Amino acid sequence: MTSLIITIDGPAASGKSTAARLLAEMLGASFLDTGAMYRAVTLAAMRATVNMRDEKQLLSVIEKYEFRFEAEQGQMAVYINGEDVTKQIRKPEVTANARYIASSAKMREKLVEMQRQFAAGEEKIVTEGRDQGTVAFPNADVKFYLTAEVDERARRRQAEVGGNLENIQKAIEQRDKSDEGRTVGPLRPAGDAIVIDTTDLTIEEVAEKLLCRIEEKLPKRNRK
Ligand code: DC
Repeated sequence: MTSLIITIDGPAASGKSTAARLLAEMLGASFLDTGAMYRAVTLAAMRATVNMRDEKQLLSVIEKYEFRFEAEQGQMAVYINGEDVTKQIRKPEVTANARYIASSAKMREKLVEMQRQFAAGEEKIVTEGRDQGTVAFPNADVKFYLTAEVDERARRRQAEVGGNLENIQKAIEQRDKSDEGRTVGPLRPAGDAIVIDTTDLTIEEVAEKLLCRIEEKLPKRNRK
């Protein structure tokens, strides 16, 4: 039985993944990176050379492949049919193709189901993505929505993966548009989410802030 669910949603490179990982460590909770799920299914669909615009074909990928997600030392390891694809799912072509899965209502339903199943097996969980507080876990104990100025987000992404800053910023702006504009599971803060602007904060400051807000909301819970 899950006794604590914390959701963290927000746009690409808003710091939510790293903050969620740190926070999970501080709380002794498991960490679920739901973007990794979208990426894994995207990679499998690319390998199966299905038509990404055909929902039926996308759904067949979920049936045909076995996906496994494991919380490992603060990182999420991802397996497709037993093969470790943790690194491959971060490739730019996977990032670019993830929007097909992300904008399919039926695929989102399946992924939300996978997310709930994952959470059901954990005692405490910090889950991050785009729709965790709005769709996947509407009854979460505490919901956060992290934002940051787009140029700062581009700088962070560049520090992580290198590349041209202007191009990175453009790609982030495109992803914001696609994340915010889709009709199913669009990126937006839940009505009861705590919104935090991380532009001028270090990742440790973000995690500490999240922890303080959790302690305010749930005074009986202590740090690990
Ligand atoms: O957070 P990320 O960059 O790893 O996400 C990869 C893709 O999955 C991105 O296109 C947004 C999408 N996504 C989503 O639609 N809903 C989620 N809960 C998580 C990710």
